[in-house]
Amino acid sequence: MTSITDKNHTKVILVGDGAVGSSFAYAMTLQGIANEIGIVDIAKEKTQGDAIDIADATSFSYPKNVYAAEYSDAKDADLVVITAGAPQKPGETRLDLVNKNLKILKTIVDPVVESGFNGIFVVAANPVDILTYGTWKLSGFPKERVIGSGTSLDTARLRKFVGQELNVDPRSIHGYVLGEHGDSEFVAWSHLTIGGLTMAEYQQTHPEITDEKLQAINDRVVNSAYEIINLKGATFYGIGTALARIAKALLADEKTVLPLSVYMNGQYGVQDLYVGSPVVVNRNGVQEILEVPLNAAEQEKMNNSAAQLTKVAHDGFK
Ligand code: NAI
Ligand code: 2OP
Repeated sequence: MTSITDKNHTKVILVGDGAVGSSFAYAMTLQGIANEIGIVDIAKEKTQGDAIDIADATSFSYPKNVYAAEYSDAKDADLVVITAGAPQKPGETRLDLVNKNLKILKTIVDPVVESGFNGIFVVAANPVDILTYGTWKLSGFPKERVIGSGTSLDTARLRKFVGQELNVDPRSIHGYVLGEHGDSEFVAWSHLTIGGLTMAEYQQTHPEITDEKLQAINDRVVNSAYEIINLKGATFYGIGTALARIAKALLADEKTVLPLSVYMNGQYGVQDLYVGSPVVVNRNGVQEILEVPLNAAEQEKMNNSAAQLTKVAHDGFK
Protein backbone atom coordinates (compact mmCIF):
# COMPACT_ATOMS: atom_id res chain seq x y z
CA MET A 1 0.00 0.00 0.00
CA THR A 2 1.17 3.49 -0.81
CA SER A 3 1.18 5.68 2.27
CA ILE A 4 -0.65 8.98 1.98
CA THR A 5 0.93 10.34 5.16
CA ASP A 6 3.18 12.83 3.40
CA LYS A 7 0.55 14.63 1.36
CA ASN A 8 -0.08 18.29 2.11
CA HIS A 9 -2.99 18.85 -0.24
CA THR A 10 -6.05 16.92 0.96
CA LYS A 11 -8.78 15.81 -1.41
CA VAL A 12 -12.14 14.19 -0.64
CA ILE A 13 -14.51 12.71 -3.21
CA LEU A 14 -18.07 12.48 -1.93
CA VAL A 15 -20.44 10.07 -3.69
CA GLY A 16 -24.04 10.94 -2.91
CA ASP A 17 -25.20 14.55 -2.83
CA GLY A 18 -28.44 14.01 -0.94
CA ALA A 19 -29.34 15.37 2.47
CA VAL A 20 -26.48 13.52 4.22
CA GLY A 21 -23.83 14.15 1.57
CA SER A 22 -24.53 17.85 1.17
CA SER A 23 -24.61 18.33 4.97
CA PHE A 24 -21.21 16.62 5.16
CA ALA A 25 -19.76 18.78 2.36
CA TYR A 26 -21.10 21.90 4.06
CA ALA A 27 -19.72 20.86 7.48
CA MET A 28 -16.33 20.16 5.91
CA THR A 29 -16.34 23.53 4.19
CA LEU A 30 -17.22 25.46 7.35
CA GLN A 31 -14.47 23.66 9.27
CA GLY A 32 -11.85 23.86 6.50
CA ILE A 33 -11.21 20.14 6.65
CA ALA A 34 -10.04 19.39 3.09
CA ASN A 35 -8.43 21.50 0.36
CA GLU A 36 -10.58 19.97 -2.33
CA ILE A 37 -14.09 18.44 -2.26
CA GLY A 38 -15.41 16.81 -5.44
CA ILE A 39 -19.05 15.67 -5.42
CA VAL A 40 -20.37 12.81 -7.57
CA ASP A 41 -24.07 11.97 -7.94
CA ILE A 42 -26.38 10.69 -10.66
CA ALA A 43 -28.41 13.89 -10.11
CA LYS A 44 -25.81 15.94 -11.98
CA GLU A 45 -27.56 19.32 -12.16
CA LYS A 46 -28.45 19.27 -8.47
CA THR A 47 -24.82 18.41 -7.69
CA GLN A 48 -23.52 21.30 -9.81
CA GLY A 49 -25.92 23.62 -8.00
CA ASP A 50 -24.87 22.34 -4.59
CA ALA A 51 -21.18 22.67 -5.43
CA ILE A 52 -21.65 26.31 -6.46
CA ASP A 53 -23.84 27.02 -3.43
CA ILE A 54 -21.41 25.44 -0.94
CA ALA A 55 -18.46 27.16 -2.64
CA ASP A 56 -20.24 30.48 -1.93
CA ALA A 57 -19.60 29.76 1.77
CA THR A 58 -15.83 29.54 1.30
CA SER A 59 -15.41 33.34 1.47
CA PHE A 60 -16.79 33.19 5.00
CA SER A 61 -14.89 30.08 6.06
CA TYR A 62 -11.78 28.68 4.40
CA PRO A 63 -10.55 28.89 0.80
CA LYS A 64 -11.18 25.60 -0.92
CA ASN A 65 -12.21 24.02 -4.17
CA VAL A 66 -15.73 22.53 -4.17
CA TYR A 67 -16.93 21.12 -7.50
CA ALA A 68 -19.18 18.57 -9.21
CA ALA A 69 -16.87 15.65 -9.94
CA GLU A 70 -16.62 12.48 -12.02
CA TYR A 71 -15.43 9.09 -10.75
CA SER A 72 -12.11 9.63 -12.56
CA ASP A 73 -11.45 12.49 -10.10
CA ALA A 74 -11.10 9.87 -7.32
CA LYS A 75 -7.72 8.85 -8.78
CA ASP A 76 -5.65 10.99 -6.41
CA ALA A 77 -8.20 11.47 -3.63
CA ASP A 78 -7.35 10.72 0.00
CA LEU A 79 -10.90 9.75 0.93
CA VAL A 80 -13.95 8.55 -0.95
CA VAL A 81 -17.01 9.04 1.25
CA ILE A 82 -20.14 7.13 0.19
CA THR A 83 -23.48 8.61 1.22
CA ALA A 84 -25.40 7.53 -1.89
CA GLY A 85 -28.39 5.38 -1.12
CA ALA A 86 -32.02 5.42 -0.18
CA PRO A 87 -32.83 6.67 3.32
CA GLN A 88 -35.44 5.01 5.55
CA LYS A 89 -39.07 5.91 5.13
CA PRO A 90 -41.11 6.18 8.34
CA GLY A 91 -41.53 2.62 9.70
CA GLU A 92 -38.56 1.14 7.79
CA THR A 93 -35.48 -0.19 9.59
CA ARG A 94 -31.95 0.37 8.30
CA LEU A 95 -31.68 -3.33 7.44
CA ASP A 96 -34.78 -3.00 5.23
CA LEU A 97 -32.65 -0.85 2.89
CA VAL A 98 -30.09 -3.54 2.20
CA ASN A 99 -31.16 -4.76 -1.24
CA LYS A 100 -31.69 -1.41 -2.91
CA ASN A 101 -28.60 0.15 -1.38
CA LEU A 102 -26.33 -2.80 -2.23
CA LYS A 103 -27.39 -2.36 -5.88
CA ILE A 104 -26.44 1.31 -5.73
CA LEU A 105 -23.15 0.49 -3.95
CA LYS A 106 -22.11 -1.90 -6.73
CA THR A 107 -22.41 0.92 -9.29
CA ILE A 108 -20.11 3.10 -7.18
CA VAL A 109 -17.22 0.96 -5.91
CA ASP A 110 -16.14 -0.36 -9.33
CA PRO A 111 -15.64 3.03 -11.02
CA VAL A 112 -13.90 4.39 -7.94
CA VAL A 113 -11.42 1.50 -7.96
CA GLU A 114 -11.02 1.76 -11.77
CA SER A 115 -10.02 5.41 -11.34
CA GLY A 116 -6.86 4.24 -9.59
CA PHE A 117 -8.06 5.44 -6.18
CA ASN A 118 -5.63 4.37 -3.47
CA GLY A 119 -6.95 6.11 -0.36
CA ILE A 120 -9.54 5.30 2.30
CA PHE A 121 -13.21 4.47 1.77
CA VAL A 122 -15.60 5.91 4.38
CA VAL A 123 -19.15 4.58 4.11
CA ALA A 124 -22.24 6.14 5.67
CA ALA A 125 -25.12 4.83 3.53
CA ASN A 126 -27.33 2.34 5.38
CA PRO A 127 -27.31 -0.31 6.57
CA VAL A 128 -23.82 1.02 7.14
CA ASP A 129 -22.17 -2.07 8.65
CA ILE A 130 -23.36 -4.22 5.72
CA LEU A 131 -22.50 -1.65 3.06
CA THR A 132 -19.03 -1.18 4.54
CA TYR A 133 -18.49 -4.93 4.43
CA GLY A 134 -19.71 -4.78 0.82
CA THR A 135 -17.32 -1.97 -0.04
CA TRP A 136 -14.44 -3.98 1.41
CA LYS A 137 -15.41 -7.09 -0.57
CA LEU A 138 -16.10 -5.27 -3.84
CA SER A 139 -13.01 -3.06 -3.71
CA GLY A 140 -10.46 -5.67 -2.64
CA PHE A 141 -8.91 -2.94 -0.47
CA PRO A 142 -7.11 -3.76 2.81
CA LYS A 143 -9.59 -3.82 5.71
CA GLU A 144 -7.76 -0.92 7.40
CA ARG A 145 -8.73 1.35 4.48
CA VAL A 146 -12.44 0.59 4.42
CA ILE A 147 -14.30 2.16 7.33
CA GLY A 148 -17.97 2.75 8.15
CA SER A 149 -19.38 5.63 10.17
CA GLY A 150 -20.59 2.91 12.53
CA THR A 151 -21.86 4.10 15.89
CA SER A 152 -20.25 7.55 15.69
CA LEU A 153 -23.62 9.28 15.44
CA ASP A 154 -25.23 7.03 18.07
CA THR A 155 -22.33 7.72 20.45
CA ALA A 156 -22.76 11.47 19.87
CA ARG A 157 -26.44 11.08 20.75
CA LEU A 158 -25.52 9.10 23.89
CA ARG A 159 -23.10 11.77 25.09
CA LYS A 160 -25.67 14.49 24.39
CA PHE A 161 -28.45 12.74 26.35
CA VAL A 162 -26.19 11.80 29.29
CA GLY A 163 -24.83 15.35 29.35
CA GLN A 164 -28.37 16.75 29.43
CA GLU A 165 -29.45 14.39 32.23
CA LEU A 166 -26.35 15.06 34.36
CA ASN A 167 -26.02 18.75 33.44
CA VAL A 168 -22.43 18.09 32.30
CA ASP A 169 -20.73 19.05 29.03
CA PRO A 170 -21.14 16.08 26.63
CA ARG A 171 -17.45 16.40 25.78
CA SER A 172 -16.71 15.35 29.38
CA ILE A 173 -18.75 12.18 28.97
CA HIS A 174 -16.66 9.32 27.62
CA GLY A 175 -18.46 6.22 26.54
CA TYR A 176 -19.61 4.30 23.49
CA VAL A 177 -22.52 2.80 21.69
CA LEU A 178 -21.30 -0.50 20.25
CA GLY A 179 -22.48 -3.06 17.72
CA GLU A 180 -24.71 -2.52 14.70
CA HIS A 181 -25.59 1.04 13.71
CA GLY A 182 -29.22 0.03 14.04
CA ASP A 183 -31.83 -1.54 16.25
CA SER A 184 -29.48 -4.03 17.99
CA GLU A 185 -26.90 -1.44 19.06
CA PHE A 186 -26.26 -1.01 22.80
CA VAL A 187 -24.58 1.31 25.30
CA ALA A 188 -21.51 -0.10 27.06
CA TRP A 189 -22.54 1.47 30.39
CA SER A 190 -19.86 -0.44 32.31
CA HIS A 191 -17.22 1.68 30.56
CA LEU A 192 -18.94 5.07 30.41
CA THR A 193 -17.13 7.67 32.53
CA ILE A 194 -17.84 11.20 33.70
CA GLY A 195 -14.57 12.95 34.49
CA GLY A 196 -13.00 9.57 35.22
CA LEU A 197 -15.86 8.28 37.43
CA THR A 198 -17.73 5.26 36.17
CA MET A 199 -21.49 5.72 35.96
CA ALA A 200 -21.91 3.34 38.93
CA GLU A 201 -19.56 5.53 41.02
CA TYR A 202 -21.33 8.70 39.89
CA GLN A 203 -24.72 7.23 40.85
CA GLN A 204 -23.50 6.69 44.44
CA THR A 205 -23.37 10.44 45.01
CA HIS A 206 -26.22 11.22 42.56
CA PRO A 207 -29.05 8.83 43.56
CA GLU A 208 -31.44 10.76 41.30
CA ILE A 209 -29.65 9.16 38.29
CA THR A 210 -31.51 5.87 38.55
CA ASP A 211 -31.06 2.76 36.43
CA GLU A 212 -34.48 3.49 34.93
CA LYS A 213 -33.22 6.88 33.71
CA LEU A 214 -30.21 5.19 32.12
CA GLN A 215 -32.46 2.67 30.42
CA ALA A 216 -34.58 5.55 29.08
CA ILE A 217 -31.42 7.17 27.67
CA ASN A 218 -30.43 3.88 26.07
CA ASP A 219 -33.86 3.57 24.43
CA ARG A 220 -33.84 7.17 23.22
CA VAL A 221 -30.41 6.67 21.61
CA VAL A 222 -31.54 3.50 19.83
CA ASN A 223 -34.76 5.19 18.66
CA SER A 224 -33.36 8.64 17.83
CA ALA A 225 -33.36 8.11 14.08
CA TYR A 226 -37.02 7.01 14.17
CA GLU A 227 -37.91 10.00 16.34
CA ILE A 228 -36.27 12.44 13.90
CA ILE A 229 -37.54 10.69 10.75
CA ASN A 230 -41.10 10.79 12.12
CA LEU A 231 -40.72 14.52 12.77
CA LYS A 232 -38.88 15.72 9.63
CA GLY A 233 -38.52 12.77 7.25
CA ALA A 234 -34.74 12.24 7.46
CA THR A 235 -31.63 12.73 9.60
CA PHE A 236 -28.64 14.55 8.15
CA TYR A 237 -27.01 17.30 10.25
CA GLY A 238 -25.81 14.90 12.95
CA ILE A 239 -24.27 12.41 10.52
CA GLY A 240 -22.94 15.21 8.29
CA THR A 241 -20.99 16.58 11.25
CA ALA A 242 -19.90 13.12 12.43
CA LEU A 243 -18.53 12.40 8.94
CA ALA A 244 -16.65 15.69 8.95
CA ARG A 245 -15.10 14.69 12.29
CA ILE A 246 -14.08 11.30 10.88
CA ALA A 247 -12.61 12.92 7.74
CA LYS A 248 -10.61 15.38 9.85
CA ALA A 249 -9.21 12.61 12.08
CA LEU A 250 -8.11 10.62 9.02
CA LEU A 251 -6.71 13.49 6.96
CA ALA A 252 -4.91 15.13 9.88
CA ASP A 253 -3.36 11.83 11.03
CA GLU A 254 -4.85 12.48 14.47
CA LYS A 255 -4.66 8.98 15.96
CA THR A 256 -7.98 9.85 17.59
CA VAL A 257 -10.29 7.20 19.06
CA LEU A 258 -13.67 7.18 17.29
CA PRO A 259 -16.48 4.59 17.33
CA LEU A 260 -16.56 3.30 13.74
CA SER A 261 -17.60 0.22 11.82
CA VAL A 262 -14.49 -1.88 11.28
CA TYR A 263 -13.65 -5.41 10.17
CA MET A 264 -13.71 -7.82 13.10
CA ASN A 265 -11.44 -10.80 13.02
CA GLY A 266 -12.16 -12.31 16.43
CA GLN A 267 -12.48 -9.10 18.47
CA TYR A 268 -15.55 -9.32 20.77
CA GLY A 269 -15.82 -12.94 19.51
CA VAL A 270 -17.02 -11.56 16.15
CA GLN A 271 -15.65 -13.02 12.92
CA ASP A 272 -15.71 -11.71 9.34
CA LEU A 273 -18.06 -8.80 9.94
CA TYR A 274 -18.02 -5.01 10.11
CA VAL A 275 -19.32 -3.82 13.52
CA GLY A 276 -19.07 -0.61 15.56
CA SER A 277 -16.24 -0.34 18.11
CA PRO A 278 -13.83 2.35 19.28
CA VAL A 279 -10.77 2.41 17.01
CA VAL A 280 -7.65 4.52 16.69
CA VAL A 281 -7.54 6.13 13.24
CA ASN A 282 -4.65 7.77 11.44
CA ARG A 283 -3.80 8.96 7.94
CA ASN A 284 -3.69 5.36 6.72
CA GLY A 285 -7.04 4.31 8.17
CA VAL A 286 -7.55 1.98 11.13
CA GLN A 287 -4.44 1.88 13.28
CA GLU A 288 -5.92 -0.33 16.01
CA ILE A 289 -9.25 -1.71 17.21
CA LEU A 290 -9.75 -1.08 20.93
CA GLU A 291 -11.67 -4.02 22.31
CA VAL A 292 -13.76 -2.76 25.24
CA PRO A 293 -13.91 -5.53 27.91
CA LEU A 294 -17.66 -6.12 28.14
CA ASN A 295 -19.57 -7.55 31.08
CA ALA A 296 -21.69 -10.67 30.47
CA ALA A 297 -24.90 -8.77 29.66
CA GLU A 298 -23.09 -6.44 27.24
CA GLN A 299 -21.32 -9.36 25.54
CA GLU A 300 -24.71 -10.98 25.04
CA LYS A 301 -25.90 -7.81 23.31
CA MET A 302 -22.80 -7.78 21.08
CA ASN A 303 -23.44 -11.43 20.17
CA ASN A 304 -27.02 -10.54 19.26
CA SER A 305 -25.91 -7.55 17.17
CA ALA A 306 -23.37 -9.69 15.30
CA ALA A 307 -25.98 -12.40 14.72
CA GLN A 308 -28.38 -9.82 13.20
CA LEU A 309 -25.67 -8.61 10.82
CA THR A 310 -23.94 -11.86 9.92
CA LYS A 311 -26.68 -13.43 7.85
CA VAL A 312 -27.44 -10.25 5.93
CA ALA A 313 -23.76 -9.53 5.21
CA HIS A 314 -22.80 -13.04 4.23
CA ASP A 315 -25.89 -13.72 2.09
CA GLY A 316 -25.37 -10.47 0.19
CA PHE A 317 -21.71 -11.19 -0.64
CA LYS A 318 -21.43 -14.91 -1.33
P1 NAI B 1 -31.11 11.23 -0.13
O1 NAI B 1 -32.19 10.49 -0.82
O2 NAI B 1 -31.32 12.63 0.30
O3 NAI B 1 -29.80 11.19 -1.00
C1 NAI B 1 -29.33 10.04 -1.63
C2 NAI B 1 -28.49 10.51 -2.81
O4 NAI B 1 -27.90 9.35 -3.42
C3 NAI B 1 -29.30 11.24 -3.88
O5 NAI B 1 -28.70 12.49 -4.17
C4 NAI B 1 -29.23 10.30 -5.09
O6 NAI B 1 -29.26 10.96 -6.34
C5 NAI B 1 -27.89 9.62 -4.83
N1 NAI B 1 -27.74 8.37 -5.56
C6 NAI B 1 -28.65 7.37 -5.69
N2 NAI B 1 -28.13 6.40 -6.47
C7 NAI B 1 -26.90 6.78 -6.83
C8 NAI B 1 -25.88 6.20 -7.61
N3 NAI B 1 -26.04 5.01 -8.21
N4 NAI B 1 -24.73 6.88 -7.78
C9 NAI B 1 -24.55 8.10 -7.19
N5 NAI B 1 -25.48 8.69 -6.43
C10 NAI B 1 -26.64 8.04 -6.26
O7 NAI B 1 -30.72 10.32 1.15
P2 NAI B 1 -29.95 10.83 2.45
O8 NAI B 1 -30.94 11.32 3.46
O9 NAI B 1 -28.83 11.69 2.04
O10 NAI B 1 -29.38 9.42 3.02
C11 NAI B 1 -28.34 8.78 2.34
C12 NAI B 1 -27.98 7.50 3.07
O11 NAI B 1 -27.37 7.80 4.32
C13 NAI B 1 -29.18 6.60 3.41
O12 NAI B 1 -28.87 5.25 3.16
C14 NAI B 1 -29.41 6.86 4.88
O13 NAI B 1 -30.05 5.79 5.54
C15 NAI B 1 -27.96 7.00 5.34
N6 NAI B 1 -27.77 7.63 6.63
C16 NAI B 1 -26.78 7.11 7.40
C17 NAI B 1 -26.54 7.60 8.66
C18 NAI B 1 -25.47 6.99 9.49
O14 NAI B 1 -25.35 7.28 10.69
N7 NAI B 1 -24.63 6.16 8.91
C19 NAI B 1 -27.33 8.71 9.21
C20 NAI B 1 -28.32 9.24 8.29
C21 NAI B 1 -28.54 8.68 7.04
C1 2OP C 1 -29.52 7.75 11.80
O1 2OP C 1 -29.17 7.07 12.77
C2 2OP C 1 -30.96 7.07 9.89
O2 2OP C 1 -28.93 5.92 10.35
C3 2OP C 1 -29.59 7.14 10.43
O3 2OP C 1 -29.88 8.93 11.94
